[in-house]
Amino acid sequence: MANVTVIGAQWGDEGKGKVVDWLASRADLVVRFQGGHNAGHTLVVGNQTYKLSLLPSGLVRGKMGIIGNGVVVDPEALLAEIARVRAQGLTVTPETLRLAENATLILPLHAAIDRARETARGEKKIGTTGRGIGPAYEDKVARRAIRVCDLAEPETLSDKLDELLLHHNTLLAGLGAPTFDKQVLLDQLLAWAPEILPYAEPVWERLDEARRAGKRILFEGAQAVMLDVDHGTYPYVTSSNTVAATAAAGSGFAPSALGFVLGIAKAYCTRVGSGPFPSELHDETGRLLGERGREFGTVTGRPRRCGWFDAALVRQAIKVGGIQGIVMTKIDVLDGLKELRICTGYTINGAHYSYLPAAMRAQAAAQPVWETLPGWSGTTKGARSTAELPADAVKYIRRIEELIEAPIILLTTGPERDDTIMMRDPFEG
Ligand code: GDP
Ligand code: IMO
Ligand code: MG
Repeated sequence: MANVTVIGAQWGDEGKGKVVDWLASRADLVVRFQGGHNAGHTLVVGNQTYKLSLLPSGLVRGKMGIIGNGVVVDPEALLAEIARVRAQGLTVTPETLRLAENATLILPLHAAIDRARETARGEKKIGTTGRGIGPAYEDKVARRAIRVCDLAEPETLSDKLDELLLHHNTLLAGLGAPTFDKQVLLDQLLAWAPEILPYAEPVWERLDEARRAGKRILFEGAQAVMLDVDHGTYPYVTSSNTVAATAAAGSGFAPSALGFVLGIAKAYCTRVGSGPFPSELHDETGRLLGERGREFGTVTGRPRRCGWFDAALVRQAIKVGGIQGIVMTKIDVLDGLKELRICTGYTINGAHYSYLPAAMRAQAAAQPVWETLPGWSGTTKGARSTAELPADAVKYIRRIEELIEAPIILLTTGPERDDTIMMRDPFEG
């Protein structure tokens, strides 16, 4: 028995949802452990497309979903998503979905602060999803957050709201944004309580039992290593740790049992929001990648910035993220391009770097060092075995494996669930 932990190896939207859905056929439980409804995971199954933000992708396969304590949960968004996927025919009940009782809640005031601060930043904005993720994590570490379990204690809610509003209304007023009324928030929380509490439990206990019973657990990361609050392109990052180690702390599970760590990376690279992106393309090829890859944010609909595969970045993500093998997605988007480039390192103010250093100005100044490879004339689209791949596509993949110093375990060749080639079984460890 081995578990599998899936994380993003670039700046998000690598296809984690599709990969988790594919792997979930052989898992018993799927666990989200960080992030919130800033995530947007798209699964294409036959003629149905599921867009999941908070719900673990295994629910589409009828597998039990667990939302761990490391996730920030907006009750309104969770209930809306449950209703949306139920309308698509999925079963989501307290029998199939469990929510950590110690998970932090996102309240309407968090989104308000998120947006007001972005407006105040002007040109220097981070380009957040505006969903209150950062402010909710700030409240968590400041020890004033309202958590799922508090919904069962009206007095606790009332006390915590006093402290929260003292802090946040001061801030909102300073930013020139409308403030929040305690009674309105309290009524809202009390109305959510009976809808949310049936899902709540100490999920660490269920996970421990599952581990002892030899069940297979799949950990589904959101965002990606380069958006990690410590290891990413700070401050242009999200507010959680996205590396594999977070799966343990974010669900209350043994770090020694996280299993094989799979990093997901596109065959090229994208980013939404602001921040450095050394291999970004500002030309026709970049536009073409965006169009062919349908690179529009699942959550915000914003066009994603596109560029060539950055092997230095992925190699760094592999090392800090604890990634043991890579799933390369969307290779089909490169079909028909005459020539491909791979970024192998950076020149920063005249010096060569094999990694992206941490300082902001150095990151912004990073110029890519390119390696050029031939494109392929055949097609990879929808291929389901390595034998179907053009020789130059295999060459591209093998060269990337050398540069990133890690094996490519799976290759995906289209959005559909089964457009997937297994090169090695991650559950075998
Ligand atoms: P996630 O956030 O990492 O789960 O990724 P998103 O769902 O936000 O974005 C990935 C997009 O690429 C989705 O629209 C997927 O349906 C799509 N996709 C996934 N794998 C492939 C692939 O191999 N080829 C193509 N063309 N699209 C893919
Ligand atoms: P999935 O799980 C891509 C980006 C935002 C912004 C930064 C901070 O679908 O890969 P936040 O709202 O988290 O405070 O925004 O992080 N971002 C993502 N980019 N995919 C995601 O999730 C993202 N979640 C957040 O665009 O740049
Ligand atoms: Mg996404």
